[in-house]
Amino acid sequence: MTNILELIGVSLQFGGVSALRDVNLTIRSGEIHSIIGPNGAGKSSLLNVMTGIYQPDSGSIHLDGQAFKTLPASRLARLGVARTFQNLALFKGLSVRDNIALGLTHQARATVWEQVLGLKRARREVLQTDAAVSRLITKLDLADYQNRPVAGLPYGIQKRVELARALIARPKLLLLDEPMAGMTSTEKAEMTVLIRAARDEYQTTIVLVEHDMSVVMGISDWITVLDHGVRIADGRPAEVQTNKAVIEAYLGLEEADDFLPETAELVA
Ligand SMILES: Nc1ncnc2c1ncn2[C@@H]1O[C@H](COP(=O)(O)OP(=O)(O)OP(=O)(O)O)[C@@H](O)[C@H]1O
Ligand SMILES: [Mg+2]
Repeated sequence: MTNILELIGVSLQFGGVSALRDVNLTIRSGEIHSIIGPNGAGKSSLLNVMTGIYQPDSGSIHLDGQAFKTLPASRLARLGVARTFQNLALFKGLSVRDNIALGLTHQARATVWEQVLGLKRARREVLQTDAAVSRLITKLDLADYQNRPVAGLPYGIQKRVELARALIARPKLLLLDEPMAGMTSTEKAEMTVLIRAARDEYQTTIVLVEHDMSVVMGISDWITVLDHGVRIADGRPAEVQTNKAVIEAYLGLEEADDFLPETAELVA
């Protein structure tokens, strides 16, 4: 199996805070790879480094075998990397359809002038976009909401629109930052199915940041655990679940009771 993304010795500082310390990470093609860890562990920072939003202070990033210090956004789009954000990043006044179509913007080849003048290629692209949006609407079961503005839709539906927007360009690599935060358990179960389907149907490699441990343990092929910016564990779910350092990192928290109850009981 090839590695689609590799981070080697990545460190990132914010003033006195070490968000990431010498982190090594390998993402294998076709896997669902979760990044977990307590609040402030560096998960979002890691995603931001992987998508060129933050430039690491040291270390390197290898995407599809090519080494980068910072990943340029245009390059990422061309290589097929998409992401969703921890806080919804949708255009609230636009409809569900329009928000999803925006996921293709960087791909459209017709220039703005051609679009304005309605030239042939622009018209063809509009039709293609429309067909792609419709496919995603069906796949993610959004038909009932497609023409409604995003503002006012239930949170779980908005998260699904965000997933649709990220998927429409058929990314090779998709990074999801807490796609299930604030969802009911039914919505989480539905989202789990959709994320798996995305991987299986589009062969999309998925990096997932998620707090819900039953979701993470159920969906992941591989798990990396961060604590205070340090990678404290890395392995298959079964290995991570019984890892001493991981249990300790979580037992220091109030919500430790919610984490891996069986393992926690064993330790206690
Ligand atoms: N833009 C920033 N400016 C200053 N400090 C930051 C910035 N982004 C993150 N940090 C700090 O870096 C550390 C890691 O934050 P990060 O957001 O990556 O954690 P996280 O694991 O995503 O947490 P959460 O589970 O709460 O989303 C924290 O101490 C945070 O306060
Ligand atoms: Mg975060």
